Amino acid sequence: PAPASAPTQCVGPTFRAVADKPSATVSAVVSSDNVYVLPQTPQLIALLSMIRNKDTERADFIFYSNRIIRLLVEEGLNHLPVIEKNITTPVGRTYNGLMFQGKICGVSIMRAGEAMEQGLRDCCRSVRIGKILIQRDEDTALPKLFYDKLPEDIANRWVLLLDPMFATGGSATMAVEVLKGRGVPEDRILFLNLIASPEGITSFAAKFPRLKVVTAFIDEGLDEKNYIVPGLGDFGDRFYTI
Ligand code: URA
Repeated sequence: PAPASAPTQCVGPTFRAVADKPSATVSAVVSSDNVYVLPQTPQLIALLSMIRNKDTERADFIFYSNRIIRLLVEEGLNHLPVIEKNITTPVGRTYNGLMFQGKICGVSIMRAGEAMEQGLRDCCRSVRIGKILIQRDEDTALPKLFYDKLPEDIANRWVLLLDPMFATGGSATMAVEVLKGRGVPEDRILFLNLIASPEGITSFAAKFPRLKVVTAFIDEGLDEKNYIVPGLGDFGDRFYTI
């Protein structure tokens, strides 16, 4: 346990004696109304600590990433429209409830975004999921669209865009432009990611002011290779064997 004189910034509810509260790195603060950072609970920080640790093995990396992905999807679903729905319970009482209104789909940015598909399927049965492959063009060094497969009626759906690491936002920007080109309004796109950089968020807020970002943590920034720091390294390499 940290001594009583340790930094006083703590996360989560009171889960230890005040003097023994552990401190943790806190998510950066950004000035954007459209960014939703998951509640910084002890659970979430512990999960992030597992996947950020360079010594965490692949099976654990997958397991703990999946837990965070589940939280992101659940939060993302909170931003979809609902209508009132009154139901009757088996004991004959009325419950004034809600139901989702509108159709959704997922769109993963390959390949790392595909790691988030199962978390979406776990929450939304039979959800349609499209894919977009963007890679750096060897001649121009700019992101280039190589492949997309999207539901034909995507313009009538809410889109949960999936990519675990929101670094410069180059690929995500191109993905959003593809979606907008297919008729999806910007304010019907939710971009879900595990770790975001302030640079990516600032650039997105300027380009797509009505799009919402849901993230588990906003890190310090980017290094010279555009990796997020402190980050977790290359998500795809840690999640996939090939
Ligand atoms: N993609 C990753 O997998 N990690 C980063 O830090 C940045 C982009």
